[in-house]
Amino acid sequence: MEPKKAPREMTGAELNSMLKSSINFKSLGGMRCEELNLTEEDMQWWRDAKIGMFVHWGLYSILGRGEWVRHNEQIPWEEYTALADQFCPEAFDMHEWTDLAKEFGAKYMVMVTRHHDGFALWNSPGSYQNFTSWNTASHRDFVKEYTDCAREAGLRVGLYYSPMDWRFPGYFDPKGEEDPANADNALLMKKQCYDQVRELVSNYGKIDILWYDGGWLAHKGSDTSSSWFWEPVKLNKMAREYNPKMIMNPRSGWEGNFYCDEGSHEITGKIIPVPWEKNMCVCSGCSWGWMADDPVSDFDWLIHMLVDVVTRDGNLLLNVGPDKNGHIRPDVAERMRQIGAWLRENGDTIYKTRGGPIEPVDHVYGTTYRENEIFLHILDTEAFRNEVLPSIPYEITSCTYKGEALCFTQDEAQIQIQLPENLEKEADTIIRIRLKECVREKEQMEIHFTGKE
Ligand code: GLC
Repeated sequence: MEPKKAPREMTGAELNSMLKSSINFKSLGGMRCEELNLTEEDMQWWRDAKIGMFVHWGLYSILGRGEWVRHNEQIPWEEYTALADQFCPEAFDMHEWTDLAKEFGAKYMVMVTRHHDGFALWNSPGSYQNFTSWNTASHRDFVKEYTDCAREAGLRVGLYYSPMDWRFPGYFDPKGEEDPANADNALLMKKQCYDQVRELVSNYGKIDILWYDGGWLAHKGSDTSSSWFWEPVKLNKMAREYNPKMIMNPRSGWEGNFYCDEGSHEITGKIIPVPWEKNMCVCSGCSWGWMADDPVSDFDWLIHMLVDVVTRDGNLLLNVGPDKNGHIRPDVAERMRQIGAWLRENGDTIYKTRGGPIEPVDHVYGTTYRENEIFLHILDTEAFRNEVLPSIPYEITSCTYKGEALCFTQDEAQIQIQLPENLEKEADTIIRIRLKECVREKEQMEIHFTGKE
């Protein structure tokens, strides 16, 4: 590997040209802190893992109108809080989630431990007004059940936590401009955040990922613009005392160990030379929490998304929203298993690979590689027949499709691969290209996307 260059900032036009894509990274320009950075070795398991399963589950799963339902419908607090009496999934066994994650092919999971509604799914002494699953009908610590089961299943353990909490009037008026009492109230919310993060990272063994969401204030600005309030560097230094190698996303207001692209929009453009993750729903994306009739996405479309992400060197974190009893809708589970079956067959072209070395062509193809193999993922075989691949500085020894050798030519200018005439229609047509030598890893860049013009 070539030596590492000094870190540099990427802004404005250069950033736009680098991204030249539909990728929309959240929380750019967070606070910097050398001490919180991780080494490439520390990040390797995550970059190799490629696939994670996200789970949004809480009181909102009872109502089935999205995890924002309390705020969107301005449900009175007494009414919303009373939902905890019904949150009692007696027959629920956490293995249902971890089994599905395994069948789906996930190497890690991220569980929502507490969303913006404030309801904590664990025994949380730090919870404001004891708003937890432990203190209410179920009397269960779901974080304990989850962390135990995920580890037992060999999955890396991720916890989602929302610093902000709608229950605090101070959240909406952190400086006390409308009512001076709100400034103190906001500090109570901040205290809850520090206490709860400490509980999560100290009471449940090794935590591999801490995944923040909602580090902003009053639904204004971004996660990064509220760092004056949350002091994310202080918060995360504390969290790392308990879990020194824990990987953290950028949404606490500190820039994080990887970048985040959220939502179901398509991914186009170039390979992104920094660790990044796409997180999205397996259903339509109109709700992350349970919704009875949320249509599950098409299999081919999901495979295309997965290919678009990994060929641009990202990870995919795919979300499911179980019902109030913790059960995952059969058609949703079925889709996850279908992807898992595909990964069992083709996962060697996904896991432990890196994006490249050939830049993807939107909607047509992209490549991943590991050692001396390049995996060419063709999304549109008809369009590909008119394409030639750019030259690469490695000699190709063979090209195969399902074990069959393909004819190819390689010269200084280009590579041409002849696809079989009658190809069966597949979500992803994978050609394995063997090289005489290993692909040299791209020079690792330390780029800070500041997002500033
Ligand atoms: C968005 C949604 C939030 C969800 C999150 C997951 O921020 O507003 O509800 O938890 O995405 O990334």
